Amino acid sequence: MATICKPSISLFLSLSLFVVSCAMDEGDNLLRFKDSINDPLNLLSSWSKHSTSECNWRGITCTSSSSISSINLVSFNLSGSISSSICELPNLVHLNLANNLFNQPIPLHLSQCASLQSLNLSNNLIWGTIPDQIYLFQSLKILDFSRNHLQGRIPQGIGSLKHLQFLNLGSNLLSGPFPLILANLTQLIILDLSQNPFFLTHIPPDIAKLTKLQMLFLQSSGFYGEIVPNLFQGLKSLVILDLSNNNITVTLPKVGFSLPNLVSFDVSRNKLSGPFPNGICEAKGLVHLGLHTNFFNGSIPNDSINKCMNLERFQVHDNLFSGDFPSWLWSLPRIKLITAENNNFSGEIPDSISGAAQLEQVQIDNNRFASKIPQGLGLIRSLYRFSASVNGLYGELPTNLCDSPVMSILNLSHNYLSGTVPELMNCKKIVSFSLAHNNLIGEIPKSLGALPVLTYLDLSQNNLTGQIPQELQNLKLALFNVSFNQLSGRVPASLISGLPASFLQGNPDLCGPGFSNSCSQEKAMPKGVNLSKLASALLISAVAISSIIAAAVGFYIIRRCRKQRSEMNGWRSVFFYPLRVAENDVMMQMCDKNARGNGGTFGRVYIVNLPSGELIAVKKLMNFGTHSSKCEINTLAKTRHKNITKILGFCYSNDAIFLIYEYVARGSLGDLIGKPDFELPWSVRLRIAIGVAQELAYLHKDYLPHLLHRNLKSTNILLDADYEPKMTDFALDRIIGEAAFKSSLGSDASCYLAPEYGYTKRASEEMDTYSLGVILLELITGRQADKAECGDVVKWVRRKINITNGALEIIDPKISSASQHEMLGALDIALCCTSVMPEKRPSIFQVLRILHSLHSTSNLPYIHQPSTSTYTLS
Ligand SMILES: *[C@@H]1O[C@H](CO)[C@@H](O)[C@H](O)[C@H]1NC(C)=O
Ligand SMILES: *[C@@H]1O[C@H](CO)[C@@H](O)[C@H](O)[C@H]1NC(C)=O
Ligand SMILES: *[C@@H]1O[C@H](CO)[C@@H](O)[C@H](O)[C@H]1NC(C)=O
Ligand SMILES: *[C@@H]1O[C@H](CO)[C@@H](O)[C@H](O)[C@H]1NC(C)=O
Ligand SMILES: *[C@@H]1O[C@H](CO)[C@@H](O)[C@H](O)[C@H]1NC(C)=O
Ligand SMILES: *[C@@H]1O[C@H](CO)[C@@H](O)[C@H](O)[C@H]1NC(C)=O
Ligand SMILES: *[C@@H]1O[C@H](CO)[C@@H](O)[C@H](O)[C@H]1NC(C)=O
Ligand SMILES: *[C@@H]1O[C@H](CO)[C@@H](O)[C@H](O)[C@H]1NC(C)=O
Ligand SMILES: *[C@@H]1O[C@H](CO)[C@@H](O)[C@H](O)[C@H]1NC(C)=O
Ligand SMILES: *[C@@H]1O[C@H](CO)[C@@H](O)[C@H](O)[C@H]1NC(C)=O
Repeated sequence: MATICKPSISLFLSLSLFVVSCAMDEGDNLLRFKDSINDPLNLLSSWSKHSTSECNWRGITCTSSSSISSINLVSFNLSGSISSSICELPNLVHLNLANNLFNQPIPLHLSQCASLQSLNLSNNLIWGTIPDQIYLFQSLKILDFSRNHLQGRIPQGIGSLKHLQFLNLGSNLLSGPFPLILANLTQLIILDLSQNPFFLTHIPPDIAKLTKLQMLFLQSSGFYGEIVPNLFQGLKSLVILDLSNNNITVTLPKVGFSLPNLVSFDVSRNKLSGPFPNGICEAKGLVHLGLHTNFFNGSIPNDSINKCMNLERFQVHDNLFSGDFPSWLWSLPRIKLITAENNNFSGEIPDSISGAAQLEQVQIDNNRFASKIPQGLGLIRSLYRFSASVNGLYGELPTNLCDSPVMSILNLSHNYLSGTVPELMNCKKIVSFSLAHNNLIGEIPKSLGALPVLTYLDLSQNNLTGQIPQELQNLKLALFNVSFNQLSGRVPASLISGLPASFLQGNPDLCGPGFSNSCSQEKAMPKGVNLSKLASALLISAVAISSIIAAAVGFYIIRRCRKQRSEMNGWRSVFFYPLRVAENDVMMQMCDKNARGNGGTFGRVYIVNLPSGELIAVKKLMNFGTHSSKCEINTLAKTRHKNITKILGFCYSNDAIFLIYEYVARGSLGDLIGKPDFELPWSVRLRIAIGVAQELAYLHKDYLPHLLHRNLKSTNILLDADYEPKMTDFALDRIIGEAAFKSSLGSDASCYLAPEYGYTKRASEEMDTYSLGVILLELITGRQADKAECGDVVKWVRRKINITNGALEIIDPKISSASQHEMLGALDIALCCTSVMPEKRPSIFQVLRILHSLHSTSNLPYIHQPSTSTYTLS
């Protein structure tokens, strides 16, 4: 039957006699389609000649006359090739193959599907350019090629798709200029060109002709230059506009800002200037307003009564706004998020804030708000973060401050608050509480010891008196800073041993081991140790209770900026291990003779030989204070992992920090790979890769607070005598600050930086995964990341694979071919890790699992030598 039925469409329509047999033929077409694809999960098992009607096959929908109208195979893990046999299905309207693994150019032959209106190939591995012949898809209304690897320009041909209503080319590698032809697509309702980091072009005024456009997504595609203000007059139907994270400069119109249907307006992270877009609240349904991180100035008008009543997110932080913060915003019934930090706002936080019954987060740090903290704040049941540091807040703290059952973060530091620290009995969810640098008096309430999850408590720089309550020992504090108060009496034992002494400094009447006032008859300090008093206090307690320290929970030290003349040229030290060293011993040896490496990224590394014969590595971070000598930066994480170089402690003065690391015998992997005679068996290389991945998993997932490495490269991987890798230079951004971190990342880091590094502001785990991928490629190819042809091992490998299909040419020829299979497996995972699109990169656990599976197939013995690590815990 099936063989005789190969009718043309007209034949099919005219000969109704054939309808039944033709339906079977449709099944054959589907089976031919199935023949060319791989279905590893066997989800198409119901597609079989033996089953009744193809209308019941998985993913198939038919018309009322049993002809196939829709194929929907989303997330089936299909690969192979998309054959045009389905175009012989005369009534096929929808084809959705999103979230699969099709790895091919755009299947142009699908343009033969005469009825096809909707084609969805989102989130596959489609590559190549969009051919001009795209005009062949005349009947398409919906085209979704998002989240693939398309590159090159958008061709003129796309302008012929006159019926197109939905065009999504987001998250590809397309480049500019912006095709003017898109303005011909006057039926468009949704246009998405976002996340094409190489677009880099202007937004043309013609786009204002798309008067039916409801959603325009152009974020993160490198758009720059001016956009004409009348853009916002043309696009009358706009509901969602996202231009965020580009380089657009424009002055938004002062008047006539009339987009009545607007729900979300996001122009954040651009270079926009001018006044607040007055009139934007004419859009009654506005829910999200994102203006942050621009150069807007002037004040926000206080005349918007009864407008913007649906606003949920108001984000204006990091601008140049000034004037009184409008009081209407504080009591909007739906508002959830207000971020206004780092502006020059003044005004009050009104008691009417209690009307904002949905409010979750307020961030208004670093402005000039001058008011009391109203009782009304404590009445909001959904508030979990209130951060208002560095303002002019004054008066007493309301006792209901923390009555919201979800309140987690309160930062009221650097204000003029007075009165006492309230008993915060209801604060069961508070994690971080800072009242530093205010005028608070009285005692630290004992009840703080009963707050179950309190982890960061900063009460420094107040006028608190009395003893430090014993009850605080109940807390698992990562930060407890009560320095510069008037506290007195004996410091509870676990606080003195578990935390750096600098958290307690500036309270002359505190006593206990290590303080000048030893309470009663503490032992005298050992002679001949040339350390500052505070550091030696720590040293003694560390020696005495090193086991406690070894088990101590991680802590870190927040950074702060404040001039302290008395300590101007003094060195101070904090040690996390009992290290018998004086600052002098360290300083004396910080000379060129002992320097290692080519300078390093953030400062030189010196190998110092201690009088005891132990070796330590000292990294010198210079001049990273924001203002020459004012700013000390002390963020330090206490990590414990076999693949992390131990930080033994640090010394610091006003303009430098010396980080002290354990010494690791064999130097860095990067230096090793760089040697002409570099040769390591594959099993060792794989073990290094696993160690690096384990370290990342630890930093990302296990360690609290979660850390990002951010500077993962082979020269930061030290190898011990057993070739066990030990990571160094991680999370330095926390120590030296984001700006200094970014400006000091050396050019040698560039090969390891994920492509999105340039345009996303937030560092992410995916970026570390990318760097891991680069290191894998170094191990596989035996080439340094920046020494491959064209100076980038990722590009080199991809070109080899794409052009010559030469995976075997890539792997290090010095490695025995017995390991080839495993190396190709590792190459696969390295390529995934170095995907251009961060969301395509595997999770660190997936990487580990795959590396481990390669590992277990390895037949080669490992090198096992006794550890000769030089530094040992005494
Ligand atoms: C589908 O493929 C992806 C990517 O290869 C993989 O992560 C996922 O586990 C697969 N799904 C199933 C159910 O096997
Ligand atoms: C394409 O399919 C994906 C996955 O089902 C879906 O998320 C997306 O919205 C679809 N695109 C269109 C235009 O419908
Ligand atoms: C686009 O529109 C212009 C003017 O409306 C017209 O001249 C041109 O032919 C159109 N281009 C295509 C490819 O349809
Ligand atoms: C803005 O332009 C600068 C300079 O051309 C470039 O470095 C930066 O990545 C661009 N930013 C975005 C978000 O595109
Ligand atoms: C905003 O900035 C512009 C350009 O710098 C300046 O001319 C204008 O006076 C400023 N407006 C206000 C209200 O500060
Ligand atoms: C804003 O207007 C309201 C009502 O007109 C008034 O109560 C309030 O004081 C004004 N606030 C500011 C900051 O000007
Ligand atoms: C903030 O506003 C005050 C008063 O309006 C002004 O004196 C001050 O210069 C402004 N600060 C900045 C950084 O613009
Ligand atoms: C509180 O605010 C101060 C000043 O803005 C900032 O330095 C500090 O990191 C904040 N503390 C917390 C725990 O967020
Ligand atoms: C806090 O103590 C300092 C120095 O002891 C003193 O100058 C200041 O007036 C005190 N402030 C308050 C609010 O008690
Ligand atoms: C504790 O707070 C004081 C005063 O604010 C500050 O100088 C010190 O650096 C903080 N301690 C640490 C270890 O961060």
